[in-house]
Amino acid sequence: MNKNEKTVYIGMSADLIHPGHVNIIETGREYGDVVVGLLTDKAIASYKRLPSLPFEHRKRIIENVKGVSKVVAQDTLDYVANLEAIKPDYVVHGDDWKTGPQQETRARVIEALKGWGGELIEPKYTEGLSSTALNKAVKEIGTTPGVRLGKLRRLIGAKPIVRAMEAHNGLSGLIVEHSQVEENGTVEEFDAIWLSSLTDSTAKGRPDIEFVDRTSRAQTINDILDVTTKPIIYDGDTGGITEHFTKMVRSLERLGVSAVIIEDKQGLKQNSLFGTERPQVLLEKEAMCEKINAGKQAQVTDEFMIVARIESLIANQGLEDALDRAQAYIEAGSDGIMIHSREKDGAEIKAFCEAYKKFENKVPLICVPTSYNHLLEEELAEIGFSVVIYANHLLRSAYPAMKKTAETILRNKRSQEVDSECMSVKEILTLIAD
Ligand code: SPV
Ligand code: MG
Repeated sequence: MNKNEKTVYIGMSADLIHPGHVNIIETGREYGDVVVGLLTDKAIASYKRLPSLPFEHRKRIIENVKGVSKVVAQDTLDYVANLEAIKPDYVVHGDDWKTGPQQETRARVIEALKGWGGELIEPKYTEGLSSTALNKAVKEIGTTPGVRLGKLRRLIGAKPIVRAMEAHNGLSGLIVEHSQVEENGTVEEFDAIWLSSLTDSTAKGRPDIEFVDRTSRAQTINDILDVTTKPIIYDGDTGGITEHFTKMVRSLERLGVSAVIIEDKQGLKQNSLFGTERPQVLLEKEAMCEKINAGKQAQVTDEFMIVARIESLIANQGLEDALDRAQAYIEAGSDGIMIHSREKDGAEIKAFCEAYKKFENKVPLICVPTSYNHLLEEELAEIGFSVVIYANHLLRSAYPAMKKTAETILRNKRSQEVDSECMSVKEILTLIAD
């Protein structure tokens, strides 16, 4: 860097590089030496979808763009920490942030620059080139199994808590993929898809006792893979016998599934939400460790995750048993721990988390708060969870709606009365249009 030159700071995500980025850098270059504040995955994930390229890849690209002197990490959407460290003479940003969700960030930049007489330069935004539009185009192209597989670990690294929603067929997969709400400039959406055994079984009208076989469940995965790009967490039930589990791991990896969760139960598996109304027989800790370890040996990629699910609280075996198993499963190589509970108040889950905090070796914690559903995501993150799974809600809400429609038609001997409750024919055709 030239000592006599002025310093210019440009913040960017630089995920999908387009000429708009080059325009901004060229403008910056007219004012001095360009330092790019490259938003980290964490900074980007705080307000929109995780970038397609990880930070290190984006950094390499931007470092090699003509006119860029230096690239530094910007760890928050907010510029102020970096600006105060660098005290640039100029900040350059397209004028599009004068309105919309980035107004507040802009105002804080202006305020910070006043501290040392810096100036904000706002070239006209390059119309027609937005990373959001390009992202949409990329999504239409799709994803590959490898890219999808690696996304879950990236999300866990980048977000305070990763949000997964169940899907049980292509249609519910589309809902998880596309549902969005915008709040205070932040786009909220689901990060990942939960392949629930309960809802996959229910959608087929069968009990959740590992009766819907692996081939059938693979078909469900395939239908969902076809229409989505988000990472998939597969509910592997007990994983079956070890010799079958290792094969399950290989098949899931090949499909591009990011993680499998297996529970430490044996015999005829009963859904955990029955609690002890049904026999819940735990697998011996050692046998579970052996299964986890065999799965870890079998996997091909580094990114695939094998998560051990602890059923001690479901089977009334107490907190100590749960903690003891957590310790053992981590030692056996588990990449995550799912602790399950069906208590409404969340007290036993909080007690587990409290004790877990003291573990020397920790892996990401996963929860399924179907019962303790009053806890907000930020509270779950605060007590130590890295992933929250909404395990059955799309199917549970679809069923009463369908049942009501069926009964209304039976009562009225025609469908006119239900029409306003249904999506329009135009909407259904658009949803699945080519
Ligand atoms: C599932 O969704 O199938 C689960 C979670 O395993 S639970 O139903 O709570 O057991
Ligand atoms: Mg299940």
